[in-house]
Amino acid sequence: MLAVVNTPKSSAPIEIRDVPEPQPAPNEALVAVRAFSLNRGELRLFQIRPEGWRPGQDISGVVLQPAADGSGSKTGARVVALTDNAGWAERATVPGHRMAVLPDNVRFEDAAALPVAGLTALRTLRHGAPLLGKQVLITGAAGGVGHLATQIATRSGARVTAVVGRAERGRHLRGADEIVEGIDKAQGLFALILESAGGSSLAAAIAHVEAKGTIVVFGNSSGEPTPFNFRDLAEHPNARIQAFSYFTSEPEERFAPDLALLVSLVGDGSLKPHLVKRSWRELAQIGPQLRDRQISGKAVFQLD
Ligand SMILES: NC(=O)c1ccc[n+]([C@@H]2O[C@H](COP(=O)([O-])OP(=O)(O)OC[C@H]3O[C@@H](n4cnc5c(N)ncnc54)[C@H](OP(=O)(O)O)[C@@H]3O)[C@@H](O)[C@H]2O)c1
Repeated sequence: MLAVVNTPKSSAPIEIRDVPEPQPAPNEALVAVRAFSLNRGELRLFQIRPEGWRPGQDISGVVLQPAADGSGSKTGARVVALTDNAGWAERATVPGHRMAVLPDNVRFEDAAALPVAGLTALRTLRHGAPLLGKQVLITGAAGGVGHLATQIATRSGARVTAVVGRAERGRHLRGADEIVEGIDKAQGLFALILESAGGSSLAAAIAHVEAKGTIVVFGNSSGEPTPFNFRDLAEHPNARIQAFSYFTSEPEERFAPDLALLVSLVGDGSLKPHLVKRSWRELAQIGPQLRDRQISGKAVFQLD
């Protein structure tokens, strides 16, 4: 079968090559992959993982063979799934407890946008629950995690201020009460701040958190450090800076219900991933565009 293979020593960081068919473990289903998506964090993996490594976490497709241990979905089910790697291929193995069945009206390409970005959005927002009536600030709101978090927060009753780098980056953003160009333009204090840009953005987030509020730090897209002084928190008593080191850190049994929740929100129309859709043969060209902040929402790839 064909699969995406890491090729850090070549001119393109990845290639589509012939590889052996995957062999599912007893707890894994075999899925015919229809679509997958790319995450910012995976761009770095292309550089640091060895030649021949097989990338790919976010996939959607059809179950060809259910897991032998009875977990997960049945043959023929349309599913969304999270794999640790090797998902970007014609066929992939998936732990039965990391998949969910798609409602009939949810397309493969929308579902493929959800695992990493959607679980991160959902799980970072839970640090501010209940969100009803709260002021929420989301940095990187035009990106994969940010645009989903904006919609889920609004759906949960929060008033969302979305931070984008440039006005046109906010054009496709749904659900925000306010869109600001740069965190410095945000007005007032926030009960919950989702922060993933790092550097000066995290420093500004500290200035915008309300007393007892929470800043969830889940990324550092800028790669810049943030100077921090105890006195910065003087006017924000008992505010919390919450590390969110990895979206997979919740218990394994939470994955299927959380994936099912995300696809149900897409199914009922309250969550609409914004997609840049391409053939999987264009993956190597789209990676640099994602790195350079030219992709709004999620880059999703369809197998032909
Ligand atoms: N902890 C976890 O489990 C976890 C899971 C998923 C993602 N992450 C991290 O969360 C961050 C967002 O992920 P994503 O998939 O949403 O990425 P993405 O789609 O590339 O979005 C990143 C957003 O950050 C904004 N940004 C602000 N300053 C930036 C800078 N200096 N460099 C690059 N982007 C900048 C960009 O928007 P503008 O151009 O509009 O400013 C962009 O929309 C990444 O750092 C990622 O590594 C962490």
